[in-house]
Amino acid sequence: MCKSIIILGIESSCDDTSAAIIKNGKKLSNIIGSQKIHEQYGGVVPELASRAHQQNIVPVVQQAIQESGINKNQISAVAFTRGPGLLGSLLVGVSFAKSFGLALDIPIIDVNHMQGHILAHFIKEKNKIYNPPKFPFLCLTVSGGHTQIVKVNDYLDFELIGETIDDAAGEAFDKSAKILGMKYPGGPLIDKNAQNGNPYAFTFGIPKVDGLNFSFSGLKTSILYFIQKNLKENPNFIRHNLEDICSSIQHSIINILINKLEKASEQTQINEVAIAGGVSANSGLRNRLKQMEKTHNWKTYIPPFSYCTDNAAMIAITGYYKYLNNEFCSQEITANARLKL
Ligand code: KG4
Ligand code: ZN
Repeated sequence: MCKSIIILGIESSCDDTSAAIIKNGKKLSNIIGSQKIHEQYGGVVPELASRAHQQNIVPVVQQAIQESGINKNQISAVAFTRGPGLLGSLLVGVSFAKSFGLALDIPIIDVNHMQGHILAHFIKEKNKIYNPPKFPFLCLTVSGGHTQIVKVNDYLDFELIGETIDDAAGEAFDKSAKILGMKYPGGPLIDKNAQNGNPYAFTFGIPKVDGLNFSFSGLKTSILYFIQKNLKENPNFIRHNLEDICSSIQHSIINILINKLEKASEQTQINEVAIAGGVSANSGLRNRLKQMEKTHNWKTYIPPFSYCTDNAAMIAITGYYKYLNNEFCSQEITANARLKL
C-alpha cells in the first residue's frame, strides 16, 4: 500500500491563528484561534495581531495534532501561508513552519493564501459527500483584503481575470458597518440585520468599471453621505431603519459581485461557478448564487461556513496538491505581504 501523505497546515496572515491536519486530502483537524482584541479598535491592529499569533501558535498547533489522532513524527510536510497578508502576522507562521520543518527534518511548502481559499473546495471530510467543482471553473474570491474572479484550470493553475481596483467586498461590508456604529468585523452583523429588512428600501450609487474589475470605494462614500444626510433630519434614523439599511447595503454589494460574475461566465463560456473567502459566508450571496442555478443554468459551489473565513485546512489542502506535484520551498523563503496569485 502507498504511504499516507499527512500535511500540517499553518495560517497566520491576518487575525486568525490556525493549524490543521490533512491526511490524503481528508481533514482530520482544523483549529482556529480568533483574536477578539481588535473588536474595540474597529479593525485589525497589525502589531497586536502579530503578538497574539506568537502567543497562540504553539497551543493551536498542539491542539490540531492532538485532535487529528496522529503522531507528529507521521507528518510528511508543513504547509504555511507565505502571503498575501500582514507582514508581522505572516512572519509568525512562516518562522514557525520553518523551525518545525527543520526540527522534524521534513519538507516545507509555501502557500498563497488566495489559492488556499479556492482549494478549500477540495477538502474531503468524514461522512460528507465530496462534490468539488470541475475544471475549468470560475471562482469569485471575496475576503477582507481581496475581491477577485479567477479562472481555475487545475489544482495549481490559476488565471486572474478580474479584481477590485480599490476596496475589497469585505471592506465594503466592514466600512459600511462602521458607519452604522457596529463592531469589527461588521460583515456578519450586516448579514444578520439584513435578514428581515427590505433590500429595495434604499438605493446607492452603482460603480462603472470596465471589464471584469470591481470598485467599492464609491459605494462606501455614497452610503456615508446618505447616512449623514438622514441623521441630520432624524437622529434616530439608523436605529429606526437598521434592518432596511443593512438589507439595502448587502443587496448593492451582492449586485456588483453577481453582475461581474455573470459577465465572466458569458465571456469564458464556463458555467461551473464557485465562491470562496470570508464574504462567501454571507447568506444573501449564498442564496443569490443558488438562484443562478435556475436562471442561468450554472452549477454552483459554496464552501461550508468553516472554510469560508480564514482557516488552516485550506492551506493544508493546497500543500497536499503541491506535495503531489513535488513543489517544495527552501529554508531561505521569506514572507511576502503582497504575494500575487
Ligand atoms: O477571508 P477572511 O476571513 O479574511 C481575509 O482573508 O480577509 O475574510 C474576512 C472578511 C471580513 O471583511 C468579514 O466582514 C467578511 O469576511 N465576512 C462577511 C461575513 N462573514 C465574514 N461579510 C458578509 N457577510 C458575512 N456573513
Ligand atoms: Zn482570507
